[in-house]
Amino acid sequence: MADTLTVTDNRTGKSYELPISHGTVNAMDFRQIKVTDDEFGMMVYDPGYKNTASCKSRITFIDGEKGILRYRGYPIEQLAERATFLEVAQLLINGELPTREQHEKFVEEVTVHTFVHENMKSFLEGFRYDANPMSMFISSVAALSSFYPEAKDVLDEECRRAQMIRLIAKVPTLAAFAYRHSQGLPYVYPRNDLSYSGNFLAMIFNINQPNYQPHPTLERAFDVLFTLHADHEQNCSTSTMRAVGSSQVDPYSALAAAAAALYGPLHGGANRMVLYMLEEIGSKDKVPEFIKKVKNREALLMGFGHRVYKNYDPRARIIKKLAHEVFEITGVNPLLDIALELERIALEDEFFVKRKLYPNVDFYSGLIYQAMKFPIDFYPVLFAIGRTVGWLAQWREMLLDKEQKIARPRQIYLGEGARDYVPLEER
Ligand code: ACO
Repeated sequence: MADTLTVTDNRTGKSYELPISHGTVNAMDFRQIKVTDDEFGMMVYDPGYKNTASCKSRITFIDGEKGILRYRGYPIEQLAERATFLEVAQLLINGELPTREQHEKFVEEVTVHTFVHENMKSFLEGFRYDANPMSMFISSVAALSSFYPEAKDVLDEECRRAQMIRLIAKVPTLAAFAYRHSQGLPYVYPRNDLSYSGNFLAMIFNINQPNYQPHPTLERAFDVLFTLHADHEQNCSTSTMRAVGSSQVDPYSALAAAAAALYGPLHGGANRMVLYMLEEIGSKDKVPEFIKKVKNREALLMGFGHRVYKNYDPRARIIKKLAHEVFEITGVNPLLDIALELERIALEDEFFVKRKLYPNVDFYSGLIYQAMKFPIDFYPVLFAIGRTVGWLAQWREMLLDKEQKIARPRQIYLGEGARDYVPLEER
């Protein structure tokens, strides 16, 4: 069996044999298909990139039909259960789990880079009291670029490494400062005696306790949540990181753009919609009525369905279990009962079964964040902290990939043909 695709152009009767590699044909191979020699050549049209591979990647594998997610070959379930988030960060960026020595060095490097320049504080203080924390996060990550002008040397591995350490270390600090600002609370400096997640919780929740110790269950919960959100191959924000990074801009600017993509309600904002939905339903006995509305197309079951997963999102299963552990500390979120009932009924109902609609990562994550008393606007920021690692791993892979070029799609021009300018007074 030849690994080729034969394409016949019925306009000319000519046939072309295009090589197939990894189940894919190269879009540039279509360019030779022309009716006349002076034509541009055939392109492929794919708004939203629904069937276009933009890169070759060795980072994250998803099988949406089977509900499988792996980072560098390791099942997400094993990493969530047994690895720390910073081990996962090294795995995603470098391709292998670190040795103890490599890991200790990495943890040390990240820990000593958690502080931000004092001017960042005054920068953040300039935001209005009710500024959206995601807007503050995006702006402050972009502003970091001005503190590290050397970061533009993106083709140098040592320079890249230094910026990746800085970004992984500083995003929790910027996120926590944004949170404290929105609460009217003083910013808390990083604590280098705590773990990555422990330090984050201290910067968020500590109010004047010199020996504040985060609850180990919540500390572990955050490590798991960051791990689950760390990467998800070529989603909207990751593609943005790669596209902006392909111009060889510094990683702070590229990461700010990726975070901006995540800010959108179609990407990082679905878990808040789940909470609004659960609040609107109000009680467990109203669930059948709501399901009826969904089936009548009067509402969407938020937190259900996924473009890639046509099975239970493996992250949702882990988060559901985690929610029970967190609620033992925070008290049960009263919306949990409604969520469980919704899931139970939906998974048995033919409407959802037939369409392969299962809970996604957002179905339970909002419940955890709400139980921890995070404001809804802060949820995408929590997502961004974990995803920073994936953005960086993908950015580095893109820069090292000799086949990659500056992202520059084509278009099908449907506008006016050439016409002459008409002066204002004659129009
Ligand atoms: N509730 C009710 N019906 C649904 C839902 C839902 N949540 N999701 C899909 N459907 C139905 C559609 O109406 C469609 O039915 P039809 O074929 O009879 O018309 C069918 O299932 C297929 O759905 P599509 O919209 O084609 O699936 P698509 O891949 O385009 O959409 C999406 C995926 C956007 C996630 C969708 O399932 C949805 O809107 N879900 C709710 C929002 C949500 O939870 N988003 C978070 C995604 S996870 C993340 O971004 C991190």
